[in-house]
Amino acid sequence: MASRDLMRSTTRNFEKYYNPELHGEIRLDTNTNVLGSNPAAAAALKNLELDLNGYPNTYSDGLRDALAELYDLERDNFIVGSGSDELLDVSFKTFTEWGDSCVSPVPSYSLYNYFIELNGGKSINVDLDEDFQLDVDAMLAPKAKVMIMPSPNNPTGNTFRSKDIEEILERTEGIVIVDEAYGEYAKESMISRVNEFDNLIVLRTFSKAYAMAAMRVGYAVAGKSVADMMTCVKIPYSLNAISELTAIAAVKDQDFIKRSVSMVNEQRPYLDAGLRKLGFETYHSDSNFIMARSPVDHAVLVSKLKEKGVMIRDFGSKRRTENCVRTTIGTRELNDILLEEIAEVIDEC
Ligand SMILES: Cc1ncc(COP(=O)(O)O)c(C=O)c1O
Repeated sequence: MASRDLMRSTTRNFEKYYNPELHGEIRLDTNTNVLGSNPAAAAALKNLELDLNGYPNTYSDGLRDALAELYDLERDNFIVGSGSDELLDVSFKTFTEWGDSCVSPVPSYSLYNYFIELNGGKSINVDLDEDFQLDVDAMLAPKAKVMIMPSPNNPTGNTFRSKDIEEILERTEGIVIVDEAYGEYAKESMISRVNEFDNLIVLRTFSKAYAMAAMRVGYAVAGKSVADMMTCVKIPYSLNAISELTAIAAVKDQDFIKRSVSMVNEQRPYLDAGLRKLGFETYHSDSNFIMARSPVDHAVLVSKLKEKGVMIRDFGSKRRTENCVRTTIGTRELNDILLEEIAEVIDEC
């Protein structure tokens, strides 16, 4: 058997990512849009006539133009790629030298350490405070080359205070990435500030509110000099033509995003109250999911729910989220199914 010593030393401890076996379960474990496929993207796909023999545009200029119009910025403020995960990779590839310290908060998105170490950086994880807000001094202390934070945060659901993010941007000499994968659900965004802070990168995705995770589209927004550096590093043509075309259609249908966000705003208090009634301790959410501390063992809850056909995500063995689970906020119907199945599991326990 080949030894892991063959691997690049910085990747030797890597494990495979979440890859559950599926048997038609209701998916409340990945925070995609519960209203189903993005309708404008699906329509674009249906009417598709494509010359398969031609390359897509090198840097997806069509999608960058559509995004520039949406945010009243310029094409060269945007880098688009295959999921925001590609833009995470490009960010660290562009700015991290071998051994550079990169800071992310705990708890937050589990793939940050992977992307940092994949690109030779050293991950430094800094605890959020009691309210899951940023500890600004502790984040700044390692004098990191790159700092990254998701707002709204995954898995806790809350946004970070804008004044804390601004202070970090002002006090660091490094790059600050604000990952707004769930930004459509939040009241504030840093996108309009990219020309003000020349060390700011904001990431967004089409996988969540836009309801097209299958197409793998994400984008970064930054001041033009940082965006140019990232564009030079990114693999040319990495976004395929079909994904670009469907994303352009989706950007032009903002009514769907508004409808999706208002459904979540309506259902959030309903699901939160339902979970509390069942004995969960819930945490404040500015997103389309809720993190909650389970009244029964987290692993038993998640596996029994899966047997009953509902999937949620288990964070219960991790520090700071002990016995916690995270569920996507469903439609009223889905939330009722979830609450009913949870009640049954608790009874069985
Ligand atoms: C905080 C955060 N950032 C980035 C991503 C990656 O999204 P994408 O599907 O665009 O690669 C996710 C997906 O779960 C996420 O939760």
